[in-house]
Order: sequence, then C-alpha cells, then structure tokens
Amino acid sequence: MSQHRIPRNRTYLMCPPEHYEVAYAINPWMDTATPVDAELAVKQWERLRETLTGLGHKVHVLAPEPHLPDMVYAANGAFTVDGVAYGARFKYAQRTAEAAAHRAFYEAGGWDFRAPTQTNEGEGDFAYLPRAHGGLILAGYGFRTEPAAHAEAQDVLGRPTVSLRLVDPRFYHLDTALAALDDGNVTYYPGAFSVASQRVLRQLFPHAVLADEADAYAFGLNLVSDGRNVVLNSEATGMARKVEAAGYTAVLVELSELKKGGGSVKCCVAELRP
Ligand code: ARG
Repeated sequence: MSQHRIPRNRTYLMCPPEHYEVAYAINPWMDTATPVDAELAVKQWERLRETLTGLGHKVHVLAPEPHLPDMVYAANGAFTVDGVAYGARFKYAQRTAEAAAHRAFYEAGGWDFRAPTQTNEGEGDFAYLPRAHGGLILAGYGFRTEPAAHAEAQDVLGRPTVSLRLVDPRFYHLDTALAALDDGNVTYYPGAFSVASQRVLRQLFPHAVLADEADAYAFGLNLVSDGRNVVLNSEATGMARKVEAAGYTAVLVELSELKKGGGSVKCCVAELRP
C-alpha cells in the first residue's frame, strides 16, 4: 500500500513516573515481587516525551504525587472531545485520588470539565475517531469502565458511543486492544473482544489493521498515532511491520519498566482535544 498519511499536530498530557513502583497488583501484568528500576523508568518516560515533542506535538506535564505510583498512566485521568473533559472515576481505591489531580488540570486550563457519576478510566477505555461516521466514540467495558459510563460519556460529549466488550484479562483496558491510527481508522486485536463486539468492529471499520495475539501481548496496540507517525514500544516489532505495511511510519521507544505496571506508550499519554 503506498498511501500518503498526513500527520496532525496534537496536544498531550503526561505525568513523569517519579513515584512509580509496583506496590499492588490490579492487573495481570503487575507482580509486586518483580523489581522495578525507577531511574530507568524516568529515563524511558523522558525519551517518550522527547519523541512526541520531536514530532512537533505539545506535551503538558502533570505534577506527579507521592503514593500514587500509577499516576504515570495519564491516559486514565479523563477523556476529552471538543473542549469538554469527561472526568475519570477509578475502579480501584489505590488510584481513586488521581482523578482530582486531573480535574484540577482541566479546570485550571479552562476546559468544560464534567464530573462523572459512573466508574470509568478515561482514555484507557475510550477512543475518539473524529472522522469515522461523523465523529465516533469507542468505549470498552468488562474489566474497569462500567457500561453506564458509556451512556454518560455519550450524554456529556454528544457523540455516538459504541460499547465494546473486552473478554481477555490481559487486555483489561480498551487501549491495550485497540488504537486509533488516524482520524478515521483503527487497529485492534479481535481476540480481546467478545464475538458480538468483533462483529461490530468489522462493520464499523472494514479497513482496520488487524493485530494478532502476539502484537497485543507485546503492547503493540498501546500506541499513540498522529495520523502518520505511530509511536509504539520497541518490543512490538510485528506490530511495527503491520503499521508500516499500512503506510504509517513506526517510531519505536523502549518502555520496559512501565510494562511491569501493565502499560505502555498510550497508557502514559492522554490526548487533549480542545
Ligand atoms: N497499573 C495501572 C492499572 O492497572 C496500569 C494502567 C494502564 N493504563 C492504560 N491506559 N491502559 O490501572
């Protein structure tokens, strides 16, 4: 395929892993017995931030807070569409306090912040495709975000919101199983979804780039794309080949330490859509 993919400048929010550790286990990737190299985590995170700014994107930095080791996974703090920020409400007590830090960021920045009444983990379980079907929200459930939050997101953000059921505990957030490659197309691992949700995805995105289990297991779907440059972790070599074959440019970053918390590129990056 020789398609010309056009990048669009983005604005992101990230939070450095200054207090990162695996102190509890709330997903199958986390093992409190595996040591984490905290210094290396910060270095790898810095490289990711520099990679994004080097591509011409703006990165806001949220101040990390002690005793919130998962705060580095900034994608989970909210979900924004057209200047409206739908706040997060975390499933597990260990992360609850992160929501307030994100809320303060959006309120200080003049966003129309909407506090959630339903459990949802922000962009971890929500994706936005501005040019698919006139503007479409994809929403995951099954492990973290409640389906009632999908309806709430639709009410708050005014976009059709399609619920997709996640069925594999290794891929507990939507962003571990599906990613927007550009404004209208996605890549996903079908096996992470229920049979019915796979059908829904085929119907909505007949030209999706399909990933396999090995791609998903290497966190290859936990990517950030600007429409041309697809930033993904260096272990996801198979996925890098697939996005290149589809006409995108793969940009690899090492994130071995943050993988131990059950996340990679996308988990560390919330996109801000003003
Ligand atoms: N340890 C974090 C958790 O289990 C990882 C979050 C990953 N974030 C994401 N957007 N998938 O909540």
